[in-house]
Amino acid sequence: MSTGIAEAGTTAGRDDRKTAQFIAEKLKPFKANRIESDFAFVRDLLRTPGINQGRPGLAPANLDNPDHESFFFLDGERHRKRRASVAPYFTPKAVLTRYLPLMQRTMDEEIAKFQTKGMARLEDLSLQMTSNITMEVVGLTNSDNAELTRVIRGLMNSNFFLRMPRWAAAVLKPMLMWHYRRERGKLIDKLYNDHIVPAAEARRKEPKNDVISYMVKENYSKQAMVIECQTYAGAGVTATKEFIVLAAWQLFDHPDLRKQFLEGTEAEQVAILEEILRLDPAGNYMYRQSTIEMPTADGNGKINPGDVIAINVREANIDPVAVGERPFEIDPERPKRTKNTGSWMSFGDGPHRCPGAQVALQESRVFLDRLFRVPGIRLVKPPELILAVQTQGYELRGCIVACDKV
Ligand code: HEM
Repeated sequence: MSTGIAEAGTTAGRDDRKTAQFIAEKLKPFKANRIESDFAFVRDLLRTPGINQGRPGLAPANLDNPDHESFFFLDGERHRKRRASVAPYFTPKAVLTRYLPLMQRTMDEEIAKFQTKGMARLEDLSLQMTSNITMEVVGLTNSDNAELTRVIRGLMNSNFFLRMPRWAAAVLKPMLMWHYRRERGKLIDKLYNDHIVPAAEARRKEPKNDVISYMVKENYSKQAMVIECQTYAGAGVTATKEFIVLAAWQLFDHPDLRKQFLEGTEAEQVAILEEILRLDPAGNYMYRQSTIEMPTADGNGKINPGDVIAINVREANIDPVAVGERPFEIDPERPKRTKNTGSWMSFGDGPHRCPGAQVALQESRVFLDRLFRVPGIRLVKPPELILAVQTQGYELRGCIVACDKV
């Protein structure tokens, strides 16, 4: 089924994108000197030392100890060291032995509730799954899990200014800032007192292989712990939660693809998911700031030190030179055909490439595999698209699914 954004031509092929038109109309990148979308050039940029992390929408916090800065904002040797310290949370063994059983348990519980009610909002199910898994990675496992998920959701939605037109935010900020700060402060206190403190106490007695144990060992302050937990929640929960709903929507709309997914091997299922993610990546832009001079993609210009570069993930993912013909079509054979890896630019590239990619793909795969085997599963209402300025992407809300009651 086509979403019909571009009229199908012989080389353009079918257009399976769900969010392209919405993003083109609504999302404006943060201020940047250049926007790049040539796949090969973008990959080079991300792999070039001196092209540093640069996030205009997310300024790093001013912490008392610079070693406690979230590694998202670090570059070079400091980044490499910290990144090495998180590697054990994301090994294939950790995915298989720690996260996979939790994914299955979460789905047992969520599907049982779904079947009792006969109806559910898909984003509620995907939030519970992604929150459970990310919090296992972080180590926030010594408190009420459903309550923690509510706090995370609250924090994710707390900046209501981002959902307003820019002019409205500018007018209302002076009047409503105190309200925003108070509500956010309450949620942060809850996150710290009710969830981080019990987890930290438990890890002090018995360290584990998780983020909280690392922070306890390194004596992180309250502020640094809160920021790190929130950063993981943003990275691990937000993108995956949206992706799961998006992939479900695509599978509802494409019965043949759904059949292929349900009959496929694990690798075939992942190939389908990666193709879906290619077309509608969760975050549209990544940002970098150059510290060096470098020629532009066409060789005619140059990138200068200090330039902020917005990397258009969505456009890079449909660059026909890299992805081949019919770039807007879901085609799980594409990576084989083009001799490429299937994730294209969706998980980034270079030293900051998403360490959670395999976790995200596994949890999405398990979630969808379980969901589409529920007897009587059907789509009652497709999701609405909401702009997510902070993550430079979209959110999918209000997707209702139903099944036979048991
Ligand atoms: C579909 C789901 C996901 C997508 C599309 C995604 C995408 C990305 C992208 C594009 C980056 C690179 C950002 C940049 O270079 O500026 C990134 C980084 C990161 N992601 Fe993910 N991610 C997903 C799920 C996850 C999960 C499940 C986790 C952890 C549980 C996670 C943890 C991280 C971390 C810690 C980083 C920062 C790495 C660094 O700066 O070195 N992500 N992600």
